[in-house]
Amino acid sequence: MNFSRALTGERKPSLVYWERTCCFAFCNWLSTRRYSRPGCSRVPRVVQRRPRCTEPPPLCSAHHLEKNTQLAHTYWRSVLEPGDMVLDATCGNGHDTLALAEYIGAPVTGTLIALDIQDKAVMRTRNRLVDMFQSRFRSTELHIHSEYTQGRLRCRLWTENGFICELRQFPHEQFQRDMLDSWLADVKARPTWFKVAAYNLGYLPGLDSDRSIRTRADTTIKSLKLLEGLIAPREGLISVSCYTGHDGGAAEGAAVMDWAQALDASQWTAVAHRWLNRRQAPSLVVALHQVASRPSTPYETTSDKH
Ligand SMILES: C[S@@+](CC[C@H](N)C(=O)[O-])C[C@H]1O[C@@H](n2cnc3c(N)ncnc32)[C@H](O)[C@@H]1O
Repeated sequence: MNFSRALTGERKPSLVYWERTCCFAFCNWLSTRRYSRPGCSRVPRVVQRRPRCTEPPPLCSAHHLEKNTQLAHTYWRSVLEPGDMVLDATCGNGHDTLALAEYIGAPVTGTLIALDIQDKAVMRTRNRLVDMFQSRFRSTELHIHSEYTQGRLRCRLWTENGFICELRQFPHEQFQRDMLDSWLADVKARPTWFKVAAYNLGYLPGLDSDRSIRTRADTTIKSLKLLEGLIAPREGLISVSCYTGHDGGAAEGAAVMDWAQALDASQWTAVAHRWLNRRQAPSLVVALHQVASRPSTPYETTSDKH
């Protein structure tokens, strides 16, 4: 270093260049750190020019538009809370039952009633739930009881914490609210309103399934009308996925649409989702119960029974 230059304040041009570059880089780094602290709203230009994530944003973040089932699940998730009671009126292979169990707080809370007219479907749903507990909630002990009573399969799965799932081989059009009292009589869970009642119409998917066993317009409508009185006020909902690809499917879908259109607008808000350019895609009908005041639970009064 030339000491005479340093003493007189005169510096080499190359040194000045490096001093300025380092100073600029340091200031940039400092401002990035200062403004990227939590609570600091000002974003420095240097951060804007160099975003950390270089991946393009997804074309469509509305995943519920991809599949009808996803759309139904989105509705359920939006109203369900831990501890709620829900009904899967057509449990089939158990995919929807599994989602409902998750949304009501399994393995800790929630009461889940799942029905199907085929014992094969009840067994598949039971097995799917058991698999979920084994893979995801290994630390929670799951109690299982299965039996045939009067020729119908009944499975009960429950945890000590309070989650309970009652799986019944039972036609949904015969389901009455009094039945819950006897079905759940031996457990602490008190029957209350159903926050969600889910219908996924049609036949049991699978190669070894009997496709002639499927939901039908008359029994589905009968069941929906019975359920109307058991849905939680304000946020409870009934969702119905209707398939048109099989015999009777289109007529059943139309009957469900008529049922939803006839619901009292002062108590229900009904909406239908139909895919316009996917003819085989199922449509979804959702009826949201929006009545302001009702008795505390449908099970506490005997005067207004069906
Ligand atoms: C499309 S599947 C349901 C699929 C199911 N939600 C899943 O996630 O795998 C329709 C089911 O409704 C059942 N089903 C038909 N008629 C019924 C009735 N009257 N009561 C209850 N279940 C019925 C069928 O046995 C079939 O398993």
